[in-house]
Amino acid sequence: MKYIPEPFKIKMVEPIKVTSREERAEILARAHYNMFGLPAESVYIDLLTDSGTGAMSDAQWAAMMRGDEAYSGGRSYVHLMDVAGEIIGYDYLQPVHQGRAAEKVLIPLLVSRRGQIVVANTFFDTTRAHVGLAGARPVDNVCQEGLDSAKAAPFKGNMDIPGLEKLISKHGDNVAAIFMTVTNNSVGGQPVSLKNMRETYELAHENGIPVCLDAARYAENAWFIHEREDGCQERSLRDIAREMFSYGDMFVMSAKKDGIVNMGGMVGVRDDGELIAKVKSNVISFEGYLTYGGLSGRDLEALAVGLEEGLDPDWQRYRVGQIQYLGDKLQQAGVPFQNPVGGHAVFIDAGRLLPHLKWNQYPGHALATQLYLEAGIRSCDIGSYLMDRDSVTHEEQQAPFEFTRLAVPRRVYTQSHMDLIAEALADIAHAPEKVPGFRITWEPPVLRHFTSRLEPIG
Ligand code: F0G
Repeated sequence: MKYIPEPFKIKMVEPIKVTSREERAEILARAHYNMFGLPAESVYIDLLTDSGTGAMSDAQWAAMMRGDEAYSGGRSYVHLMDVAGEIIGYDYLQPVHQGRAAEKVLIPLLVSRRGQIVVANTFFDTTRAHVGLAGARPVDNVCQEGLDSAKAAPFKGNMDIPGLEKLISKHGDNVAAIFMTVTNNSVGGQPVSLKNMRETYELAHENGIPVCLDAARYAENAWFIHEREDGCQERSLRDIAREMFSYGDMFVMSAKKDGIVNMGGMVGVRDDGELIAKVKSNVISFEGYLTYGGLSGRDLEALAVGLEEGLDPDWQRYRVGQIQYLGDKLQQAGVPFQNPVGGHAVFIDAGRLLPHLKWNQYPGHALATQLYLEAGIRSCDIGSYLMDRDSVTHEEQQAPFEFTRLAVPRRVYTQSHMDLIAEALADIAHAPEKVPGFRITWEPPVLRHFTSRLEPIG
């Protein structure tokens, strides 16, 4: 259990405040027990997401001052294209304001008729929603190992290749596209191997199906490949990333993760003039002119620098090491989680920690609520509460897991914060039966977990 020291020092601080348990009980009730409804000021350690919550470097802040705010053809756009082009190497790259903007631009262009399916190693919730909005059915198809939280394996985010073969032979040309999420957020930030990406790509191409990478955490994925995949130990992260991108025809990216910016995204395509023209048209309608794509020039500069920093091996060793340290502490305390830990988060297996709760009493959400109540730590459910209802039958859907995700922002928290998180969870694990389940009292039609209202049962 070694904590890898920070490869940076702190130049600016933001005070955080400890509230009392009584205050937190009131705050929770006022927020209708929705973690997104909590005022951030009332949170001591915020593990709600690693998205857009990282600390920028001095180099990024300096670059922002050079932001060129020209409407068209700005210098900052050229800078971003140069950097991203070297890493990714596609024919066309386009900045957009965040990941779901890329999804909104690209996914409707992939679905040509009703009744099609789109397969993924597991969709993130916004990607899943956009597939549904485009009129297709999202189908998750992760490898078996990914579904067993207790069993450690190096690449639990992989696509299930035999499963994909079956889906293709059953649905034929009704498979509109294949998505590869790297790292695989919804199954625990688990990595995908180069071998699996290559096999998926080859199988897709034999059948004329396009592959789209969801590359939000591509740099963490490259680090895991560097550490775990045969023959990759001597390769640079940049070289590995380049090969990863070669196993896609297109990609969407939320740059708020491994791009280490507070806002930003990208979409890119290879080799298809027709698709590029359609992407451009959607971007101009939804995001803005092509050379800014919904971002200001200073954002484009920060992203250009952040993309480089995200591939620094010293950074990734520390980044993934910090999460592994937290996982080791939890293991020592007997708290079950998706093992091994992911690149951006520890996914506590709340289903196993709270066996007295049924899936539709949302164990992942229940644990998140308790963790806030006990220690002011905010996390979130990645389980049946997060799952939207079936888009056709409107039935509740049971997720394969009931996770509580502890997502760690980049360059924000230190070892003592990790220790405090582990202690708080160890305390809850001593008397798990005290944690109540939840019911939903109001919910919107899609992406319900952001805004629904809940109450504790009993
Ligand atoms: N794809 C993946 C794998 C993601 O994790 C996210 C966002 C998105 C797409 C959408 O990107 O937020 O920039 O629109 N994930 C965040 C999270 C919100 O907390 O995991 P976005």
